[in-house]
Amino acid sequence: MSNASKSLSGLSLDMIIFGGAGDLAVRKLLPALYMAHLHGNLPRDTRIIGLGRHEFSRSDYLAFVEIQSRPFVSPDNFGADAWSGFLELLDYICIDVMKDRDFSALADRTRKEAERVFYLATAPSLFTTICNKIAASGLVDHNSRVVLEKPLGRDLSSATEINDAVGVHFKEEQIYRIDHYLGKETVQNLMVLRFGNSILEPIWRAPNISSVQITVAETVGVGSRAGFYDSAGAMRDMVQNHLLQLLCIIAMEPPVSLSPNGVRDEKLKVLRSLRRMTVADIARDTVRGRYIRGAVGSEAVKGYLEEEEVPQDSTTETFVALRAYVDTWRWAKIPFFLRTGKRMPKRSSQIVVEFTNPPFSIFPDASHGVANRLVIELQPDEAIRLQIMAKQPGSGMSMRPVTLNLDLQSAFPQRRAEAYERLLIDVIRGRLTHFMRRDELEAAWEWVEPIIDGWTRLGENPHSYAAGSWGPSAASALLARDGFVWHE
Ligand code: BG6
Repeated sequence: MSNASKSLSGLSLDMIIFGGAGDLAVRKLLPALYMAHLHGNLPRDTRIIGLGRHEFSRSDYLAFVEIQSRPFVSPDNFGADAWSGFLELLDYICIDVMKDRDFSALADRTRKEAERVFYLATAPSLFTTICNKIAASGLVDHNSRVVLEKPLGRDLSSATEINDAVGVHFKEEQIYRIDHYLGKETVQNLMVLRFGNSILEPIWRAPNISSVQITVAETVGVGSRAGFYDSAGAMRDMVQNHLLQLLCIIAMEPPVSLSPNGVRDEKLKVLRSLRRMTVADIARDTVRGRYIRGAVGSEAVKGYLEEEEVPQDSTTETFVALRAYVDTWRWAKIPFFLRTGKRMPKRSSQIVVEFTNPPFSIFPDASHGVANRLVIELQPDEAIRLQIMAKQPGSGMSMRPVTLNLDLQSAFPQRRAEAYERLLIDVIRGRLTHFMRRDELEAAWEWVEPIIDGWTRLGENPHSYAAGSWGPSAASALLARDGFVWHE
């Protein structure tokens, strides 16, 4: 979707994945690269080199990928020839990023003529060392690109430090900071909904809108990632990136073009317009939660503190709800309610734009008070629903809300590429629009960090909520104060 895009023909590509035997690589990146290969979206001359501390030979690695990654390729997309063709592209090098003095083993295996993409699917604490060592091994040139996985740091200063260190070797246009939500078809469709249609724009502002809700609910718990998750929590893991990016797309002004800077300039303005919270605001306008034992569907599940590797004295939140304000003319006084949590009753990401009631009602029926709502469902369903009032058939003038329902899956039945597949293709083609720029990332931390610090100062433990519920009751009270309810 950006202006310039590299052609694949004649391109030689070495895709080098640090953390090549890690969870992200085997579950997401390799299956996504396989799909890109299957659909002819990898350059013909591609090599994928996994790097990791495991002492695998190449054939051990292929066997590992066969066992670990293949289950993440849906049977509909599996082709024995395509899969074995894909395995041919893979190689593996055992490297200990901290211990190995240099990366000469990697330098020996990469090709001089190839464009190199370095995907850092490791802990962010290794990013600086990796960049220093690949540069010292002569592997970075003006065609190289580096992909940085989230979380990029754990606060503003660590993010700045990483950005500075990476910036010594890579120019900003060579750096791809990934937020996989930006690769989702439905999230990209938000741009088209807002800027490819003219009917919404005149009403997309104060005073026509009374509130915006953004929910990303997950049924999963922390699973095997407790070690990482406990040091992050829902605020760093989800709000700082995915939810704020969704908020940006909903709230941004029309960009001058789809060029990377066109789009990112507008998102940055939104992030900088987010009203900073004082400790009193934090106490009033944010809710932290942590799941306790309960049931998701029919499955009985443990509480967060019972999960393996979670320390008993953990104060980490698995749920956040908050009220934010974007202080601009367009959004003056309109609350944005953000909510995300693990172990919710269903997986659902949706945005609800609630419009104001008619200024005056000519109808005697008390039920006129239901507001129009635009509900944008991002996952698992892809739908846009507009709730409007209609006359209830009969002799009176009673009304009731009905829904205009656009099911995007039936409108476009074709295959949707997974977020990582789409984003990896963007990296290969050199398209930056759906990646975060340095100032955007830092602006997000500037807003989030004082909230996390405020929680520490307030010293309260997260509220408990039963796994399989919609979070602590304080999250409902947060909306009720303004006369709203969560749309569930
Ligand atoms: C990741 C978070 O970025 O997003 C995970 O680290 C979370 O904790 C995941 O589960 C959710 O992504 P998706 O695509 O399943 O909504």
